[in-house]
Amino acid sequence: MNTTIEKIKKLKGEIKVPGDKSIAHRAVILNAIANGRAVIENFPMGQDCLSTVEALNSMGAKIRMNSATESITIEGVGLNGLSEPATEIDAENSGTTARLLMGLLVGQSFPSTITGDIHLCRRPMDRVIIPLSLMGAKIHSSERRGYLPIQIEPSTLNGIDYTLPIASAQVKSAILLAALYASSPTVVRENTKSRNHTEIMLNTMGATIDTRDDRIYIAPRPTLYAQDMFIPGDISSAAFIITAGLLVPHSSIVIKDVGLNSTRSGILDIYKGMGGDIQIENKEGTAGELMGDIKVTSSILRSTTIEGNIIPRLIDELPIIALAATQAVGTTIIKDAQELSVKESNRILSTVNTLSQLGADIEATPDGMIIQGPTPLHGAIVDSKGDHRIAMMAAIAGLIANGQTTIKNSQWIDISFPGFFDTLKEISVMS
Ligand code: S3P
Repeated sequence: MNTTIEKIKKLKGEIKVPGDKSIAHRAVILNAIANGRAVIENFPMGQDCLSTVEALNSMGAKIRMNSATESITIEGVGLNGLSEPATEIDAENSGTTARLLMGLLVGQSFPSTITGDIHLCRRPMDRVIIPLSLMGAKIHSSERRGYLPIQIEPSTLNGIDYTLPIASAQVKSAILLAALYASSPTVVRENTKSRNHTEIMLNTMGATIDTRDDRIYIAPRPTLYAQDMFIPGDISSAAFIITAGLLVPHSSIVIKDVGLNSTRSGILDIYKGMGGDIQIENKEGTAGELMGDIKVTSSILRSTTIEGNIIPRLIDELPIIALAATQAVGTTIIKDAQELSVKESNRILSTVNTLSQLGADIEATPDGMIIQGPTPLHGAIVDSKGDHRIAMMAAIAGLIANGQTTIKNSQWIDISFPGFFDTLKEISVMS
């Protein structure tokens, strides 16, 4: 599918974005192995989370979807209640599905196979295979070592004390899930804090988990209790609308009920530091997570440097922050973000190439990018490169670029933000 975007006058109004993808994956997995029934509201119906739902359904958890109310109901089967799936598990494009399920599946008494689409089969899995193997897991990659498809054989797991070599919530979560099935406690240490939704959810569902400084302790074999929850809006999806609100002149918008977990809200800190007018209203808690409304008014931005510990707090937002930097006064430097090169696309290259095609002054570095601004953008024909966030970044660029911007293969947006273009239309003022 190709979508063409035109420059608009302003953005005005109030909208919602789909529920948080990271929280949703964890809600499905943990409630599937809990005791009892959970109703999850504001569940994101994007393909990534559906891959996780299909996988747990294939292992005996009864998950009913209600698209009209954007909710799902999960009948938990208990910690040891999953059964062998009839076929291989296909995580499709979802790295979170593949890596978290690896952690869950190494603890089961049945064998399994996990595969994915061509993009996912090119993403590294050794980061998960290595610590899980240290726990005693038996994992084989049938085609290329360290990549999907992988086969898992049943094994006896022991707890480990493991320091994450990279800041990755997917790796951390895979270890914590395997730790539920180990014979002794596990400790995971992080030098740089990554998103902590797994820890929060395990805690609210009854596991013995204790986080102190950079160290997470988890006791094995808990009884988990099903937990109803309202999933806050995904700040990683809101990021595109927030950026549009800042960049399109004369805009004033509110994004309702967005997750504000501090391990995810780096983009708000960066934009405020760049001079962005962003206010948070109506803050409240939901199942251990913080949520609130984000009010954005268009702003003149100045450049910044983004590096170090803040990177995991905004890793998925770097492509759209790069777009904002093309409109900021001065030189913006993004570094320490090598991880961008192993996302749904090589996001250092796909961001730099896409924004260059639209007229930006941007250059790639081994661990990030350097952007000069402000630079007027012009429309062009660009490709999503099979990456939902690159497609949305190009669409937001199209709102401020002169002429028409066409995004080829824009259907990839459905991975995380079905209804993205309708949401944009709702708040767009064309004349
Ligand atoms: C995610 C963690 C991050 C993030 C991804 C979702 C998660 O990946 O980029 O979109 O839900 O745990 P890494 O763990 O590879 O940093």
